Amino acid sequence: MIKSLRGMNDILSEDYERFTYFINTATDVAQKYGFHFIETPLLEETALFKRSVGESSDIVGKEMYQFIDKGKNDVCLRPEGTAGVVRAFIQKKLDKAGGVHRFFYHGSMFRYERPQKGRLRQFHQFGVESFGIDSVYEDATIIMMLSDILKKLGIDYRLQLNSLGDNNCMPQYRTKLINFIKKNKNKICEDCVKRLDANPIRVLDCKNKKCQKLYINAPKLLQNLCNSCDDNFSTLKKILDNNNINYEIDTNLVRGLDYYSKTAFEFVSDEIGSQSAIAGGGRYDKLVEFLDGRSTPAVGFAIGIERLMELIKMPENLRNGYFIGAMDEEAIDLMVKLAHKKRKNDKVIIDYKAKNLQKHLKAADKVNAKFCAIVGLNEIKNGTIWIKNLETKTEKIIKLGEF
Ligand code: HAM
Repeated sequence: MIKSLRGMNDILSEDYERFTYFINTATDVAQKYGFHFIETPLLEETALFKRSVGESSDIVGKEMYQFIDKGKNDVCLRPEGTAGVVRAFIQKKLDKAGGVHRFFYHGSMFRYERPQKGRLRQFHQFGVESFGIDSVYEDATIIMMLSDILKKLGIDYRLQLNSLGDNNCMPQYRTKLINFIKKNKNKICEDCVKRLDANPIRVLDCKNKKCQKLYINAPKLLQNLCNSCDDNFSTLKKILDNNNINYEIDTNLVRGLDYYSKTAFEFVSDEIGSQSAIAGGGRYDKLVEFLDGRSTPAVGFAIGIERLMELIKMPENLRNGYFIGAMDEEAIDLMVKLAHKKRKNDKVIIDYKAKNLQKHLKAADKVNAKFCAIVGLNEIKNGTIWIKNLETKTEKIIKLGEF
């Protein structure tokens, strides 16, 4: 038997209901905040991710589904959504047009990681990207939006917050950090030695216990911000305080993608095991320019839908629509005709085989129909239909014309 690939799941039945409930809820909130849907291709030029997510990141360095296509183009399945949206934004010349552009998207992302609970090779994100606003109020607003989405779904979270500085303060901080790491080079893990050359800031995110202990004494990002980044971060905290959004400061939060500056955040859940990040995002003011567009400030986030699935509190599954059954072979054509008419406005499930009433009622219950409607020889003769409301348990016979 052929099975799905490792780390790639089917979504069906109850999972699909949860999945669509999530998408509908998140879409509704995003639209309330003025975001518009955008769809970008699953396949992009590999160079797009190398230049945006960064060659030194694990995502690009180790986890891409990359191949040469039949036209000899170096392409890969998107590991994340931001780069594609930025490419589309530039390609449509919205950077030149100026103004504010807010997008949301959802779809599959691909990372060749070691699969485990909450970590898949094909997973789904719901993301938003806002272009054209350099005010930290927009950072706070998208954090509030994310909080609204999670609250609507009944999900508890902790918000972790950091600032990654800008071109003014980050280079000096990096030098300080490199000096600190070099002094301790013989005490750090192999991965951190590699990070020292490729992307030193990522050492702060190292999961090795010995390294973590050592980095307690490393220079802190938040203590090395320039005045403007420091003010910016204080304003962000103030806006969140004013709007009752709780947060924790994590000066070691660096994110796994290279394009961020200033605001960086993650939403985590304590109920889903080690892969606890349910969403992540931040500001990326340099990325549009870096991908050859006109310099445009931007900020966004993405939610990992699979990590939320078991946390979503679904509303009570209310009955809806009709189940129509026939008691006699001769009534099947009438049933099909009635269903066709009724489907203009309602959901209708039918059974093509003539069966007794009890069997039809059982089937109607199984598909969660609100009404079970039955036709047979008697009904054809009298021009009527028998209907039971499965919520109130009341039944009646009505004229076909009234159905
Ligand atoms: P990210 O932190 O790499 O950010 O991914 C966002 C979320 O996707 C994570 O918090 C996690 O819930 C989920 N996720 C990541 N990898 C996996 C996986 N292998 N299996 C299951 N879920 C996973 C980004 O992708 C950025 N593009 C977010 C962003 C948008 N920043 C600005 N705008």
